[in-house]
Amino acid sequence: MTHVNSFILSTLENGIQKVVLNKPARKNALSFQMYKELKMLLNESAKNNKVLIFVLTANGDFFSSGNDITASMESLSVSIDTIKELIDTIIMYPKLLIAVVNGPAIGIATTILGIFDIVYASDKAYFQTPFSSLGLVAEGCSSYTFPRLLGHSKAGDMLYLGYKMNAQEAKQHGLVSQVYNHDSLEEVWNYLNKISTLSSQSILATKRLVSRWNKEILLKVNEEEMEELKKLFESPELIQRLLNFLSRKNKL
Ligand code: COA
Repeated sequence: MTHVNSFILSTLENGIQKVVLNKPARKNALSFQMYKELKMLLNESAKNNKVLIFVLTANGDFFSSGNDITASMESLSVSIDTIKELIDTIIMYPKLLIAVVNGPAIGIATTILGIFDIVYASDKAYFQTPFSSLGLVAEGCSSYTFPRLLGHSKAGDMLYLGYKMNAQEAKQHGLVSQVYNHDSLEEVWNYLNKISTLSSQSILATKRLVSRWNKEILLKVNEEEMEELKKLFESPELIQRLLNFLSRKNKL
């Protein structure tokens, strides 16, 4: 096991790079450092011929509670640039990008799933984007991908009103490919291991074809979302709402 740092673990076996968020006491909230590590791992694995699939999963009861709000308070503008770079890297990633969502996914941990290639989930997972309760805006290209994936109205309920979507519903809407009973989630690794019998050049060529037409649009969407976020970061309301979270007045 490669310890990138103690909050992200990475292993490589049979063409599968398994990357595990490992900050369960804080529900795997994503700090700048973690965004940077994830970007570095994606860039390295893009160049590594031994990697065919990059799988993101997590330890503990949550997949991730999204952006680390404590860290955001410390240096707001740095965080936006770091997030933008990670999302650009995801958009450009040439191998298969898969999520095994072991528990609830909040904020950016939900939005980025719309730019992954395949998502598997535990039946204990739920998906929520509480931007409006924190005074944030849609990110991870969700302003573009969610209406197309989920339909206009359900995407609206999530993006504007913070609707909490359970795993089965996420499957019905096509955000998730397969829902596993939580106690059998490990079975997903047996399923993914069949990759060793498949043609990697065929998979990579198909990924090139599938992702080709959307890349430019997604890069532009990411840029626009981050511009909008930058504007909001100057607003006193956002600061107040983040402070409210920290003082526990607006827990979801
Ligand atoms: N950023 C920073 N810290 C976070 C966090 C986040 N996104 N999510 C959880 N934590 C911390 C909590 O502050 C708490 O820290 P403490 O032990 O020092 O008090 C710890 O993780 C455990 O979380 P807690 O709230 O006690 O667990 P819970 O099961 O009652 O609730 C959540 C879990 C995720 C529902 C709740 O923590 C929450 O609403 N988090 C914010 C999620 C969010 O809004 N993310 C950004 C979206 S844009």
